[in-house]
Order: sequence, then C-alpha cells, then structure tokens
Amino acid sequence: MSWYKIDSLEEYFKAYRESVDQPEKFWEDIAEENFVWRKKWDKVLEYDLHEAQVKWFLNAKLNITENCIDRHLAERGEKTAILWEPNDPNEAAKQITYKELYHQVNRFANVLKSKGIGKGDRVCIYLPMIPELAYAVLACARIGAIHSVVFAGFSATALATRINDSECKMVITSDGAFRGGKTIDLKGIVDEALEQCSCVENVLVAKRINSDIELKENRDHWLQPLLDEAADSCEAETMDAEDPLFILYTSGSTGKPKGMLHTTAGYMVYSSFTFKNIFQYQEEDIYWCTADIGWITGHSYIIYGPLANGATTVMFEGVPSYPDFGRFWEVVQKHKIHQFYTAPTAIRALAKENLDFVENYDLSSLKVLGTVGEPINEEAWHWYNDHVGKKKNPIVDTWWQTETGGIMISPIPYVTPTKPTYATLPLPGIQPGLMDETGKEIIGNQAEGRLCIKFPWPSMARTIWGDHQRYKETYFTAFPGNYFTGDGALRDEVGYYRITGRVDDVIIVSGHNLGTAPIEDAINEHPAVAESAIVGFPHDIKGNALYGYVILKETGEGRDRDNLRKEINQEISDKIGPIAKLNKIQFVPGLPKTRSGKIMRRILRKIASGDTSNLGDTSTLLNPEVVEHIMTHVIKD
Ligand code: PRX
Repeated sequence: MSWYKIDSLEEYFKAYRESVDQPEKFWEDIAEENFVWRKKWDKVLEYDLHEAQVKWFLNAKLNITENCIDRHLAERGEKTAILWEPNDPNEAAKQITYKELYHQVNRFANVLKSKGIGKGDRVCIYLPMIPELAYAVLACARIGAIHSVVFAGFSATALATRINDSECKMVITSDGAFRGGKTIDLKGIVDEALEQCSCVENVLVAKRINSDIELKENRDHWLQPLLDEAADSCEAETMDAEDPLFILYTSGSTGKPKGMLHTTAGYMVYSSFTFKNIFQYQEEDIYWCTADIGWITGHSYIIYGPLANGATTVMFEGVPSYPDFGRFWEVVQKHKIHQFYTAPTAIRALAKENLDFVENYDLSSLKVLGTVGEPINEEAWHWYNDHVGKKKNPIVDTWWQTETGGIMISPIPYVTPTKPTYATLPLPGIQPGLMDETGKEIIGNQAEGRLCIKFPWPSMARTIWGDHQRYKETYFTAFPGNYFTGDGALRDEVGYYRITGRVDDVIIVSGHNLGTAPIEDAINEHPAVAESAIVGFPHDIKGNALYGYVILKETGEGRDRDNLRKEINQEISDKIGPIAKLNKIQFVPGLPKTRSGKIMRRILRKIASGDTSNLGDTSTLLNPEVVEHIMTHVIKD
C-alpha cells in the first residue's frame, strides 16, 4: 500500500494513528514518494504554535510547476490537463493538454520576466475563469513571483485595497468577463482601482469579450501579442520549501482583509494528498470543481491539487443558471464528469427549480460528489444525494478554510460512511479539538465547542502578509498553543464532526465569507448614516442573508426610505462588491449596547431571525427601550 491513497476504513485508521504518533515520518514518506524535489529537506517540521511559527520540509528546494506540469510530460503529454467549458454552451470547450499547458505557462512566465517581474514580486490577477487565469497563476509560480488572485466580483475599491496591501507590481486582467447573460467591464474596474495604486507598473490585458477598451500608454499591454513573441520554455526558478507561493485575501471580523500567505512545499504536499484521497481520482477520470479560482477552493482543487496528480481538471466560466438551471448537469453529461465538487448554496438554488432540469441529463458517469464552503443543511444534502447522486455516489462534505490551504475534515468516499450534514472525520495529520468557553479542551464524544486544530499540518497559512502580529492574535491567542478556526462544531457519539457555523463576526453568504466590520464601514460612509450594525439571518438559498440596522443622521430623517436603502446598497457594492449587499435594511433610533458601548449583536441576530422568544437579560443594556422599538418595526418578508 502506498500512503498516498487510502482505500479502506482500516487503512484510514492506521494512517490516522501513524500521522498522530509520528507526524514527521508520515508526511516525509508522502513527500518523498510522490513529488520531485531539487533537493530534499534537512528537517521535516519546526514549529511553535504559541508564536504562530511553522516551517515544513526545511531547506528543501523545488518548483511546484515542475510537479504540476513538467513531470507529467513524458507519460501524460497528450492528456487533457485543463478542460475549459465556456460561459456560452454554444462556444466550443477547449482541451488543453499537459504539453500545451507547459508551453503556455512557459511563454507567460517569459512575458512576466520581460516586464520586470521576478522572484518574490507580487502580481495581482483579476481575471474571469478563462484559461489565461490558470496560465497566469502557474507562470507566477514558475518564476517565483507571488500571485494574489482577487475574485473578479470584487469592486474597484476592494481590488485597490488588496493591490496596495501587498504592493503588487503588476495586474493581469481582461477586457471584460461574461457572466451568464451579462458582461462585466473588468478593465474599467481595474482602471478605477489603479487611480489609488501607485505600486503597479504594468497591466497585462487578456482579450475575452472584444470590448472597446482604452490602454494606458506605458502601463497597459495586450497579453496575446506578448505571448506570441515569447519563447515557449522558461527555466523554473528554484524555490525554497518555505518561499511564498501565493497570497489570498479573506475577510476578517474586523478591519481590512487578511492576506493569507501560503508557502510552497507544505501546500503542494497537502493539497495533492487531499485531492487524491478525497476524490479518489483515477487516471482516466474527469474531475470538476465549480468554484472560482478567486477563492481557495479553486487554488487548491482546480489548479494545484489536480495538476500535481496529473488529473484532468475542468474550469467552468459560467454560472449554474445560464442558459438555464440545467447547465451543471448538461456539462456533467457532456464531459462525462466523474467527480463533481460544488457549494451548498448552488445546490439549494438548483433544488428550488423543476426536477426536469436535473432529470433530463445522464449523470451516470458520476462517482463522487463534494460540497464545500458552508454547512450543508439536511434537505439540500438529501436532494443532492437523491437526484444528482441517485443514492449511489458518496457525498464528501469537506470542511476547511482559506487559512488551512486544504481539506481538513471530510469523509473519504467509499471508505468513510457518510452522515448528512456531518463532515465526519479528520484527515490523517489533522488533530481537531473542541474547546469550551474557558479555553479548556472538551474530551470525549457527544461534545460541542469551538473548533481548534492542535498540531501543525503542512498547508497551514504561515502568516498574514505584512502583519504577523494580527495572524498570531486572530488564530493563536484565544486558545494558546492551538490554531483557532473561528467555527463552532459538535462531535457525535462516534467522533464524527459537524460544523455548526462561525462563532465570530464573519457571516457566510452564498459561501462567501463576509466580515461585518468592512460592510458597516461602507454603510457608514453614506452621508445620511450615523451608525449601523450588520447581522446574518437564515436564508433558503444563500444559507445566510444580511440584515442591516441603520441609524440615520438628522439630515437623513426626512429622506425617502426606499431610495436610502438603494443608496446604501450601492455604497456597499462600490466599496466591496455586490455579494455583500443587504437583503433587509431597518432604520432604527438606536442600537442595543452594553454599558461599555459594545453592540449586542446576539440580540440583533435573534430579532432578524424572527426568534425573539428568548432574548436573554436585556436589563443590563444601556438602552433597553430600543430593543422593543426594533422588535415592533422588524422587517419580515
Ligand atoms: O465556517 C466555515 C465554512 O467556511 C469557512 C471558511 O471560508 P473560506 O475561507 O472562504 O473557505 C471556504 C472554502 C474552503 C469556515 O470557517 N465552511 C467551509 N466548508 C464548510 C464550512 N462550514 C461547514 N461545512 C463545510 N463543509
């Protein structure tokens, strides 16, 4: 048996035990057997979780693109590496072989170099789901530049914040994007963002929608002519195991977004190991993860994990509802997908539609179904199991985070018996713990608490770009010596984990992490607004939706309320992006506050959720009377 692939429950338990008893040996064997190294490590692991310091495979040298591309050329040169499915089903899909990927990435790497990008430089990638996005990511990795992919749904202000935070020298974008029936002016958004960014020297522009855009002299360049001129081989940079690979921003419960920094070797080993086991990938399989590469799921399970395994990975440009709600299933049938990985919010949206949309297609190629991003409710789990998996495909409910780099808790299909809404068991090498409010670990099954990870794993983020103190405070101080996930979880009688949701001020809307503070900051910039508080409330499709309580300034009091609501949402759209818009906005005379001035979000959450039966003791509030007022005027559906 190779450690690489776990085929039975006994093997899982054996691997798990060994990974806990001898973690260094466990990961060393996997690293040794499954990857190409320019130089092996001197030491497997060095860490101090109290100081948030972790290093894996010390002094090893490698290049991740040699593992994802070059080493496959001999045996898989003609195999499809990336199968690109466009937004419009009438446009032809593209099969990009490993050989072609090699040349594209090398050309792109040479273009980056010709524009002055080198090892350690940051490159912001703001692209739709087109092949150039994958090439750009891998080209950065080839020359040791640090990519920072920003999801192309973020606004100009959000993009500028991210570019400036990591001082990107270059932005790679396109003339625009297709998204369902719409087009999006990405280049216009970049131009607006760059008015606030002096660090950017060059912008490369891929052509996608053939729109009429302006190129700023000496800054903007069409990508294709540069690629056409570039040589199609480029020596891969030698990277240290702990050299940065990428930055990916995630929302914090406070302040600006956190640039999570992932490094090279540990991330590669863990994303590949988990890909192989969680999707039980076989050589001829076609694997499809519907995420956007702008999120960690796309980084680890569209690009790096699958390609390191020599897999065929599908990249989908479109949306589940275009041209109709059968699109996912049409693509599954067309490309004979074997593993399908999506988000609960997409499942819930599709489950609302007529069953014909799924039943009209042949889904018999499917072997494994996955979900990620938020808790999956029982109803959605069963719909997925009954109508997509026809009760024969295991569902892997995979729990993990941008910060963890790879899947942490999940069934292994055909190995771990599944249980609806449970992510089940930790993967080998992952040591979860549930902590109580006092910081003590709760031992034994049938427990509920705050989910921590007690021991380092290879793909954990190493820091927050430019702010190690914040990294330490956010993740390693609440339960000293442990990584705190920000999630609550319960452990059932057999030790299966169920993630119950965030216990901090992050709200997950349609699978997107949103911090309350940045949204409140955006609202408060509206001239008529004095103060605001955002909470989440349950929503059929989005999982959670946002409810805003807004106190107006005197100048705003006479204004038309519906217009104000529109303006406030526009403000949010401009500052963050449309994903952060509020579903409901209630204008209130005050917000319930403790005597120390802290907003009692617990009360606001209950009111927004229509659950006012047990508001707890409100008498300690500074202003208990506002609670009554807010309850009477609450916005129902
Ligand atoms: O609350 C958990 C939820 O998503 C958060 C991480 O979000 P992000 O960094 O954007 O990464 C999402 C993709 C990995 C977690 O803290 N979450 C993720 N997967 C699950 C989940 N909640 C419940 N069940 C899951 N399977």
